[in-house]
Amino acid sequence: MASFPMRTFMEYGAYRNAPGSARGLVRNALEEWRLGAFEEKASLVVTELMTNSIIATEQVAWEAGWPPVRLWLLAGPDGVLAAVWDAVTTPPRQRVAGELEENGRGLGIVDAYCARWDCYRPPAPYGGKVTRALISDPHTEGSESYRGR
Ligand SMILES: Nc1ncnc2c1ncn2[C@@H]1O[C@H](COP(=O)(O)OP(=O)(O)O)[C@@H](O)[C@H]1O
Ligand SMILES: [Mg+2]
Repeated sequence: MASFPMRTFMEYGAYRNAPGSARGLVRNALEEWRLGAFEEKASLVVTELMTNSIIATEQVAWEAGWPPVRLWLLAGPDGVLAAVWDAVTTPPRQRVAGELEENGRGLGIVDAYCARWDCYRPPAPYGGKVTRALISDPHTEGSESYRGR
């Protein structure tokens, strides 16, 4: 079982400035944990996951209030784990972006930088879903398929 003794958590309003705030959290936490080598990858991965969760949240017409986006950053011997909760139950779907397309690359980056990533739906009463991604190596790319693209 993987163990992640270092942990931090923050809840953000689902607004466009949240990924920037989250990068600040990532930088501070990783520096405090002496894991600054992970900062570049972790910032990118957290930015992509947070941005996706915010866009997904925006696309729903919520009846009662606007749900937040939640970020957990965990670290330990197995690497750095980022987990992002949003209130939308639809899972993320990685797609292959066309060469000239600006969108559709976020999860490709996550996949390339992470040893693995997945999505799960926590049981009631939480609802929504958590997308999580494990960066096990601060330097190399994880996925063969993304290289050279
Ligand atoms: N948190 C999420 N909730 C619901 N759908 C998501 C989420 N993250 C990603 N997706 C879906 O997966 C697709 C691919 O995501 P991504 O690779 O980041 O590309 P982009 O965000 O540029 O469309 C998105 O277009 C969206 O349909
Ligand atoms: Mg995206």
